[in-house]
Amino acid sequence: MTSSPTSSGNTSSGNTRGRIFSGVQPTGNLHLGNYLGAIRNWVALQDSFESIYCVVDLHAITVAQDPAQLRQSTREVAASLIAAGISPERAIIFNQSQVPQHSQLAWIFSCVARLGWLNRMTQFKEKAGKNRENARVGLYSYPILMAADILAYRATHVPVGEDQKQHLELTRDIAQSFNQAYDVEFFPLPEPQILGSATRVMSLRDGASKMSKSDMSDNSRINLTDDRDQIAQKIRKAKTDPDALPSEEAGLEGRPEAQNLVGIYAALAGSSVGAVLAEFGGMGFGDFKPALADLSVEVLSPIGDNMRSLLENVDHIDHILEGGAARAEAIAAPIIDEVNEIVGFLGRKS
Ligand code: TRP
Repeated sequence: MTSSPTSSGNTSSGNTRGRIFSGVQPTGNLHLGNYLGAIRNWVALQDSFESIYCVVDLHAITVAQDPAQLRQSTREVAASLIAAGISPERAIIFNQSQVPQHSQLAWIFSCVARLGWLNRMTQFKEKAGKNRENARVGLYSYPILMAADILAYRATHVPVGEDQKQHLELTRDIAQSFNQAYDVEFFPLPEPQILGSATRVMSLRDGASKMSKSDMSDNSRINLTDDRDQIAQKIRKAKTDPDALPSEEAGLEGRPEAQNLVGIYAALAGSSVGAVLAEFGGMGFGDFKPALADLSVEVLSPIGDNMRSLLENVDHIDHILEGGAARAEAIAAPIIDEVNEIVGFLGRKS
């Protein structure tokens, strides 16, 4: 089985390197960890791949949502992607519920995937908790919808965090199983591009836990909406240890806070931990933190500024998302028409 998509649905750009699809949940409060872990990579990838980025509002309702808040978060996340440098012209950016092919394909894939495959999903077990009888069916079949997201475009590459790797494997199983069941070579087996291991951003208050939107302390994270003063102050207040910075990476072992701050500096500077330590080794945090604060403000505050001005004009964001959805549907619709044909549905004669 090859992973090269065939002609249909791959005509909108002459790009032969492949097609990227990735999704982000519409949760408020995107922060530095999201930026360095995912968004920044998405920005970089849009130049080498045909890139489709989706705000996954259908996935969001697998847990309870306040409708007004969901709408707001969808716009906010879209705005932050654009503010961070994803071009709505070069890439496609849209929200999932506007393109009906995702749901259509998810149903068909529900009839391909097996209970046993879903039963292995560790994220469901974590999210459902003890009271599994009460878990939503959508939470259980979440990975099927994710497979549909990717394969509705016959995407070949999927940049995701480590935590989504198992879902990607399931996507490949579904693609392969569909191809086998219908004796076709229709879906590619998409390749995960695992992101974020290099820049795993930890809490500024505790170097042992991940930077998270749900941390009680706002000082634990730098939100993309923080202004200059907030950014600088959070860096100044970040937890450290009393020692000077080492000159080599090995010296960071057992010093999670130091490791985190140096890692953040390296990532923001587009440099390496080794190079940062070569520059700052021997200095104390009293010298390093101001440098990190300046760099953080320099890189992040324009994103926050852009985001705020985008969010002032909701109609404009909605317009961008609608345009993205139209372009996304133009790719997905012929693919789903073909799927319907393969499966044996009569389909629409247009
Ligand atoms: N499940 C992903 C997450 O929580 C989001 C997502 C939904 C996604 N559909 C996708 C990621 C398709 C990659 C491709 O991060």
